[in-house]
Amino acid sequence: MSELNESEVKLEALLGIINSSARQAIAEYKKTGYGVPSADATTFHPLDMATDTLALKRAIRLLEGAYHQLSAILAPPQHTVMNFVCNYNWACTNVALRARLADVLDQHPEGLSVDRLADAVDLDKSKTARILRALSIMGCFKEVERDVFANTRLSLILKSANNTGCFAQLHSTDGPKFAGVLYETMIDQEFSRSHEVDKAPRVFASSKEGNKDNLWEMMENNEEQRDLFHRAMLGHSDMLGASAVLHQYPWDGISSVVDVGSGIGAISVPLAKMFPHLRITNHDLPEVIVQARIAWQKDAPEALLDGRVEFVPINFFEDVPVVGKDVYYLKHIIHNWPDVEATTILRNIRKAMRPDSVLLIHDCVLFHTLQEPGVGTNGLTIAPEPMLPNFGAGSHRTYQTDMTMWLVLNSKERTLDELKILGQVPSSTSANAGLALTQVYDLVETMVMEFRIAQS
Ligand SMILES: C[S@@+](CC[C@H](N)C(=O)[O-])C[C@H]1O[C@@H](n2cnc3c(N)ncnc32)[C@H](O)[C@@H]1O
Repeated sequence: MSELNESEVKLEALLGIINSSARQAIAEYKKTGYGVPSADATTFHPLDMATDTLALKRAIRLLEGAYHQLSAILAPPQHTVMNFVCNYNWACTNVALRARLADVLDQHPEGLSVDRLADAVDLDKSKTARILRALSIMGCFKEVERDVFANTRLSLILKSANNTGCFAQLHSTDGPKFAGVLYETMIDQEFSRSHEVDKAPRVFASSKEGNKDNLWEMMENNEEQRDLFHRAMLGHSDMLGASAVLHQYPWDGISSVVDVGSGIGAISVPLAKMFPHLRITNHDLPEVIVQARIAWQKDAPEALLDGRVEFVPINFFEDVPVVGKDVYYLKHIIHNWPDVEATTILRNIRKAMRPDSVLLIHDCVLFHTLQEPGVGTNGLTIAPEPMLPNFGAGSHRTYQTDMTMWLVLNSKERTLDELKILGQVPSSTSANAGLALTQVYDLVETMVMEFRIAQS
């Protein structure tokens, strides 16, 4: 057999990564004792709902990164580039969500004819069939007989009770409107070089309809949108596997946690359930705190009865959080804001911290496509060659989340260095006592950055 040239060696290496990462994923499913999921599954696998999926996520990051890279090398370039843009899965998913196709099919596990399904949701039969077929080729819904469709493990996410489905609905309804004006905002005199929240593509798109409110202003007076948003945040956490923080951070040694910008408790509710010794403060805007209390009453009534949770409205730009607690936890807060606002939030938290308090920033983190100093050490993983060090398309959602932050809030995901710089906010009393990054917990799609008051 002739020797492989350098390009062939790289292709073989990618094939090897695909093989080994898929086997790692299979092993993770088997560890549960429930075997592997099948393409025909009509129920969730127990691992789909688990809070600690780090090992599976690591394997999938390699698998997705390697197969995208392999396919981009082997497919004609025009094929790959058109795959970027010729993709209406978001629109078909949006129809399925809004028409509640998965809810109807849930009543018919054996399948339902497209005629009856379309009648049930009052849509055109042949158009409904086209939507279902476009999604079925991706494994979302399946045609069990000609023109008879049933749910799959993927389409169950589109049921109205599913929080990730709720996130998908919000994203697929609004995201394309904002993305559609991205270039216009980049050449508009007022918007192009602005990093203010009020100059987000979302505001540009909405102002055409006569509405200039930013996201938070819009939700203040719209209870329905606020409800949807906070349910979507629970789904967002599920999608990213953010609850791994429950298992990876040493909560046993902590007594009190302040969830700054808690929403309705994506992490603080399961935290209270897993660690009943913790005293938890929920901080958010007044109207959200009302919703949070209702959510806690439903999901963790025991914590309310025990008096180990409190609900304190704040505006984190103006108010200092409750003082002197062990941990100040911010999940998906700093990424919502441009640097000026993010610094104000951190400065206010810094004022509340005891000398030994800890600040945890839990966000997605961007890594460059070239290897960076320090990455690959300190527990931060770097992809094996010939993959891009940041896992390439295996990190797709981190980079898409960065785009979402830009589109909706004119904000961004940050690199570790950018976060370190943000942490150095001077306190009001000492120019040297900023916050130093002391540890990073790599949760694959998100990271938890631990900051402590810097020793001057
Ligand atoms: C992206 S959500 C994250 C919620 C929650 N931490 C999570 O991860 O699900 C951002 C949160 O910041 C809150 N927020 C926005 N502006 C705020 C302000 N000025 N003061 C306090 N909270 C605010 C929002 O109400 C929302 O709950």
